[in-house]
Amino acid sequence: MTMSGAKSFYLTTPIYYVNDAPHIGHAYTTVAGDVLTRWHRQRGENVWFLTGTDEHGEKVMNTAKANNTSPQDWCDRLVTDAWKPNWKALNIANDDFIRTTEPRHEERVQRFLQGLKDSGHIYLGKYEGPYCIGCEEFKLPADLDEGKCVIHGRPVEMLSEENWFFKLSAFVPALIEHYKKHPEACEPTSARNEVLAFLEGGVTDLSISRSTFDWGIPVPWDTKQVVYVWFDALLNYATAVGLGDDPASEGGRKFAQTWPADVHLVGKDILRFHAVIWPAMLMAANLPVPGKVFAHGWLLVAGEKMSKSKLTGIAPSDITDHFGVDAFRYYFLRAIPFGSDGSFSWEDMSARYTSELANDFGNLASRLIAMIEKYCDGVIPAVAKDDALAAVLAETVATADKAMIALDFQGGINSIMDFCKRVNGFVTEKEPWVVAKEVARQAELMAILYNTADAIRALAVLLHPVMPATCEVLWSSLGADKTLGAIGDQRIADVSNWGQLPSGSRVVKGAVLFPRLEEKEVAK
Ligand code: MSP
Repeated sequence: MTMSGAKSFYLTTPIYYVNDAPHIGHAYTTVAGDVLTRWHRQRGENVWFLTGTDEHGEKVMNTAKANNTSPQDWCDRLVTDAWKPNWKALNIANDDFIRTTEPRHEERVQRFLQGLKDSGHIYLGKYEGPYCIGCEEFKLPADLDEGKCVIHGRPVEMLSEENWFFKLSAFVPALIEHYKKHPEACEPTSARNEVLAFLEGGVTDLSISRSTFDWGIPVPWDTKQVVYVWFDALLNYATAVGLGDDPASEGGRKFAQTWPADVHLVGKDILRFHAVIWPAMLMAANLPVPGKVFAHGWLLVAGEKMSKSKLTGIAPSDITDHFGVDAFRYYFLRAIPFGSDGSFSWEDMSARYTSELANDFGNLASRLIAMIEKYCDGVIPAVAKDDALAAVLAETVATADKAMIALDFQGGINSIMDFCKRVNGFVTEKEPWVVAKEVARQAELMAILYNTADAIRALAVLLHPVMPATCEVLWSSLGADKTLGAIGDQRIADVSNWGQLPSGSRVVKGAVLFPRLEEKEVAK
């Protein structure tokens, strides 16, 4: 049920650095966010899905310099030519896209910071120590290996600056209590354990300004300094929905409807920022902390985190040109348990494409449409109910829903694809092509075809959040767009109500859902 006043399910992705174009690691997080928010929308919830770009800091500034342009021009170009088009191509249905150079963000960051200063959470101090520009992070000795950042493998800089500090250490007891009381606030368990160990190991205050360059948001009371890029970036989740605005204003109302975020989706590389610094900032401002920070694993290439800086980055289009967008969206969530690392392999992706998408799902749909054309003149026959199939569907919906909302994408997709296998088994077992030969078994034939069609109706709805374009094509070939309405309006809770596909509606032979890969090669 959609209630316009109800709190929105609010999900965010990290805002990505615009020092380069997106690679499949960035796309992995963004697709996961898109699938989860589409699932929640199909549950009938109000949803708000935010992504965006992190544009300040030394890393972006240095990249712009190396490309002989200003940081702002560089960011504008990358956002317009690379980031937004990539998300559009991957069918990402974000509700908003925030850039940290936008006035709506900068103004709210300054106001927030001034508030923390006024309430005594900020003081002037001296920072001396290592900094990794790749991570944009002040490092601890344990984060380094022979003077190099363990993530980027590059030497760190030694900084010695007079900076403004945030009293992060003051929030350690409250954070520990929070995670002990709300284990769901940081997942998976391995991530929560890491955060707790980090908190229990002692946390120092955080330098939140930089004085040696100016590509950032000026500290409002000391404009020679700019706000530390992570302090600036983390705030995007709240500035984008009206942080600090008058409660009666549009921004204030948006904030009340959205905050706190339900899920911050992040890679495990940026867990501590999200599970330690960010909630402490919110606590300092007396704001509610997010419901959940979920840290997923890394996509690995040759056993290492895939990254552009190590030249192992693969562009999403390298994969979608060959397999299509929906297979891309499906593959990573299906193949890798969310929360674990996983390697991308061309062979594994080809194998799953062929067996799960083309054979199990695509062929099932095309066989059904062909049989309805052949045996029923292209018209869905009278409603029939196979109790066993209907019971498996009800179980599938319950399992898939539970898994998806728990961010167990693999579990959710598996249960749906198991149902797909079950429907294939039903067709094989019932042998409609044999039944069709006997005039006396016409009713039986019609029932087999109706049951198969209605099961495919359910599959299309359940897979729609994962593979929207393909499922829309299938939906219209079932004629369901004209009778049941838009596929996105079909509710998860209603999927297992058997017999929804109206008899008498006309099927249309559509494009092959998952063309054979060789044919694609020829078509290129
Ligand atoms: N700008 C910061 C985030 C600020 S959020 C307030 C940042 N940006 S990033 O461009 O480096 O993106 C990091 C995120 O991209 C990771 O947390 C993860 O979500 C995704 N990934 C980047 N490389 C990845 C892999 N190799 N594998 C999986 N995800 C990856 O950090």
